[in-house]
Amino acid sequence: MTKYELPPMPYDFSALEPVISGQIMELHYTKHHQAYVNNLNAALEKYHAAEQKNDIAEMIALESAIKFNGGGHVNHSIFWTNLAPTSKGGGEAPKGELAAAINKNFGSIETLIEKLSAKAVGIQGSGWGWLGYDKSKSELVIATCSNQDPLSTQGYVPLLGIDVWEHAYYLQYKNVRADYVKNIWKIVNWHNVEERFLKAR
Ligand SMILES: [Fe+2]
Repeated sequence: MTKYELPPMPYDFSALEPVISGQIMELHYTKHHQAYVNNLNAALEKYHAAEQKNDIAEMIALESAIKFNGGGHVNHSIFWTNLAPTSKGGGEAPKGELAAAINKNFGSIETLIEKLSAKAVGIQGSGWGWLGYDKSKSELVIATCSNQDPLSTQGYVPLLGIDVWEHAYYLQYKNVRADYVKNIWKIVNWHNVEERFLKAR
């Protein structure tokens, strides 16, 4: 049976400072993301055992743990690659076909940032703001997800996620989620977002 593992972190924990502190990054990756991975593996092991016993009730009971922890693993794995230190291109404006699609769907990158920021800041409780791709309409979309629900549950391909769980910013930004979201654009790895966009299309 597949055992999921933490993906390699593409930069040092402190590499995103001053936007996100090294302390937050280390805890976020080694504690929070690791816990999603561990709990996903544990839930899948139980699911596998239930399947062997044809215990459908138990399989159904495990679905929410698989969704939550599997979503947490999927979302964070995308999130780390969506960011980059400024020395490695973080914050550089989107280019090429992604830039063209952003202009077509939102008018400008500034408008996209404004709209996605407002959506992410406005999420009640824990969740994620996303830039996604709607394959059925061939267009970019802004969406929000509660908790760790993956964007795929809404039928979109995830391109850029903003984690607005308090664990992502509280140690540095306290209760001011808006400042965290405002600053995160300085380290968005648009090159990674473009790669995901080209693959989705
Ligand atoms: Fe997180």
